[in-house]
Amino acid sequence: MLGISMLLESCGTSVPLFKTNTHNDSISIPVNEFSGGKNMVIVRVPKLENDILLVKKEDHFNALNLRCTHEGYGLTPTSKRIVCSAHGSTFDFDGNVLKEPALKPLKKFNTEIIDNNIIIHLT
Ligand code: FES
Repeated sequence: MLGISMLLESCGTSVPLFKTNTHNDSISIPVNEFSGGKNMVIVRVPKLENDILLVKKEDHFNALNLRCTHEGYGLTPTSKRIVCSAHGSTFDFDGNVLKEPALKPLKKFNTEIIDNNIIIHLT
């Protein structure tokens, strides 16, 4: 599957953007998108209303829906946290609320690694 990588500038940090499409309600991202010490990639799929932040953890990947759990605005990842510019909520890279008014953690999609691809399951 082909994807397009580019840099998205946000709050002085650059998080790579990976554009792709869904296949059977899942998304595939090559593991090598995380080469060179990268630990985050924004995944953009036309079918989805919000981007997904794919975060490399020690032994797994977190796939977080970048939709604020307060009133549904889109979220912006920075180098230290995920920020909602609407009313100031912030989240960590596990999706937990760091600062209200949001009360619930971010929606997390299941992931697995198959043949050097990270698969994000949307259902
Ligand atoms: S919609 Fe994000 S803090 Fe209100």
